[in-house]
Formats: sequence, C-alpha cells, structure tokens
Amino acid sequence: MKICVLPGDGIGPEIMAEAVRVIDALDLKFELEEGLLGGAAVDATGDPYPEATRKLAREADAVLLGAVGGPKWDSLPREQRPERGLLGIRKDLCLFANLRPAILYPELANASTLKPEVVSGLDILIVRELTGDIYFGQPRGIENRNGERYGFNTMHYTESEIRRIGRVAFEAARKRNKRLCSVDKMNVLETTQLWRDVMTELSPEYPDVELTHMLVDNAAMQLVRAPKQFDVMVTGNMFGDILSDEASMLTGSIGMLPSASLDANNKGLYEPSHGSAPDIAGKGVANPLATILSAAMMLRYTFNNEAAATRVETAVKKVLAQGYRTGDIYEPGTTKVGTKQMGDAVLAAL
Ligand code: NAD
Ligand code: IPM
Ligand code: MN
Repeated sequence: MKICVLPGDGIGPEIMAEAVRVIDALDLKFELEEGLLGGAAVDATGDPYPEATRKLAREADAVLLGAVGGPKWDSLPREQRPERGLLGIRKDLCLFANLRPAILYPELANASTLKPEVVSGLDILIVRELTGDIYFGQPRGIENRNGERYGFNTMHYTESEIRRIGRVAFEAARKRNKRLCSVDKMNVLETTQLWRDVMTELSPEYPDVELTHMLVDNAAMQLVRAPKQFDVMVTGNMFGDILSDEASMLTGSIGMLPSASLDANNKGLYEPSHGSAPDIAGKGVANPLATILSAAMMLRYTFNNEAAATRVETAVKKVLAQGYRTGDIYEPGTTKVGTKQMGDAVLAAL
C-alpha cells in the first residue's frame, strides 16, 4: 500500500509532518514516498507538476497533499504557477469527486463565528465536481481586443460529467440522511440549467433520496442563516470551491475541514480544504487537524479501513475535549498549542 506524500508550500510541510507522524503511529505497513508539487516543484524543476511526481502519484494507491501556492509564485506565467500543478494532478488522476465534510465538533461550538445554536450538531457534506466547469474550460485568456485588454473564461459541462458527480452525491446521501440539495444558477447560466435537468433526471433512480434544488446565491445565504437544513449538497467546481470555504467557518475554522478527491475507483487525493496560509507559514502555529482528518478519509475511502479512520477521528475528538487548540480555534479557557504540540496530543490520544 503506497502513499505519495506531497507536502507542497507554505504551511504544507508543517501540517504534513504531523499527518505523517499519525500515519506512522498506526503501524499499518504503508510505504510513504515524498514528491514535489506546486511552488516547491517550480523552484526545483520549473514545473509545478513534474514528471517524477506524476509517476509517483500514478503508481501510488493514494496521494496525501498539504497545500500549494504563495505570493512568491503569483507573478509567474499561469502555466508555471503552483495552482496549475494542483489542477494538473486532479485532472491527470481523474479526481472528479471532491468530498468536503463540514462537521462541528461539539467542543468547538464557541469557535464558530455563528451562534452555537445555529451550528451545534452540524454535519453536512459538500460534493464538489472537481475536473470540469470554468476551471478547465477553453477558450480562456487575456488578450488585446479593440484597443483594450479582454479577459475570458468558458464555463461548460457535459451531461455525462454531471451524471457521474450526481451519482456520487445521491449515493452519499443514501448513506446519510437521504437529503440532497443541488446548487446551481439556472436562472442565468445555461450550463447550470443542464446541471439541474440532469440531477432531476437521475432522481427517480434514487427514490429513497429527497432531491431539492437551490440557486447558489440563496445557498450562500442559507448556509449562514440555517446551515443544519442541509445534509448533502452537490454543485459544480467553482460554486463548490466558494461554498466549501464558507461552510468551513461553520465548523470553527478552515483548519478543521478535510477533503477527499476521488476517481471512479476510489483512488484518491486527500488534502485539507484550506491553502498554504502564507500569513502564518514557518511559524509553527497552523492547525494540522484538517490534514490529519484528510488522512482519516484516506484510510476510509481508499484503504477501506474504517477502524483505522475512526481511530484517528476519535483521537482528534479527544484532543479537542482535552482542550488543546491551535490559534485559529482558540478561545479563553482552552490550552493554546502550536502545530507540533497538536500533533503530539493526537499521537498521545491514539
Ligand atoms: P488560505 O486557506 O491559505 O488562508 C486563508 C486564511 O485561513 C489565512 O488567514 C490563513 O492563515 C488561515 N488558515 C488556512 N489554513 C489554516 C490552518 N491550517 N490553520 C490556521 N489557519 C489557517 O487561503 P488564501 O490565503 O486565499 O490562499 C493562500 C495560497 O494558498 C494561495 O496561493 C492559494 O492559491 C493557495 N491555495 C491552495 C489550496 C490548496 O493547495 N488546496 C487551497 C486554497 C488556496
Ligand atoms: C481548493 C483551492 C484550489 C481550487 C486552488 C488552489 C486551485 O482553492 O482546493 O479549494 O480552487 O480548487
Ligand atoms: Mn478553495
């Protein structure tokens, strides 16, 4: 069982070190191999997704990623930027299904910026399509037209792309509370009219799941007004990017939100939903729990080891109950710890 480990940039290496310690402690005979992705890869090879990483990722059973990007690389040509490396590996491995669970641990009810009664008991799953939409649409670019600069991107989905992510979402809802909310902008965008049509067509195959539709602007509002109305949400690449960051704050911090990006066979890339946090990089204060919880998702989805996944998640719950908090979830009366101390606490709880 091979895991390709890509620490990436910014806080990536700091949070990954803790996730790797947790995996090692499980003693499950994984073979871990480290590779370069993002800015780290640009610096070493000029390519954000170098051939050696591609080979490593393809041969591995799962990929564990920290985060990529940072101001250092923001003015490079777009093809050489770290984010292109991330989009490249997602596309290359056909990771079309991005699962982002937003769960509020009871201990963090006061860490959320929303009132505890609005978020307590929150458990929603955002299913984000990850290899299509305006992220990958052609044509795209910035050109000179009629004497001024002109920027353009293309939003598109085929019905088969929508159907395969729809099935993932219906199946997920089936295993949970059987409610699926599909989020689109059908009142303006044709692509998302097709999205709604295909979701509606799929619905009779899942009679046990209640399908509803919501426009994305309303969904953004409802997520902070009454987030517990949702069970599973399914949406396209760009809306899912935005709504999942919004949902993360319901759980207290984006430092708590893990993710799984899966292909049709549950081969996956696992990464926190947050970025490389350049503002706190190198300080040893980042919250490693989203990455550790992403490793738990890896154990569950790719390695079918529910017991090990639950063991890691239980350890995380325990350290929160013990009062350990990184700065992003700190509140008076709890114990403020750094990245490594949080890792130590999880290991002790394991
Ligand atoms: P970000 O998620 O990196 O940071 C947003 C805010 O959240 C910052 O204040 C940061 O300090 C905080 N934060 C994020 N993760 C945290 C953690 N684990 N613990 C404590 N605080 C945390 O988003 P951004 O600032 O918009 O982007 C920074 C860079 O990261 C950009 O280059 C962006 O492209 C990249 N990015 C990468 C990924 C990824 O690799 N999957 C995801 C998002 C952004
Ligand atoms: C995420 C990130 C990426 C995305 C960026 C860094 C390309 O924001 O994983 O949510 O937009 O998908
Ligand atoms: Mn994002």
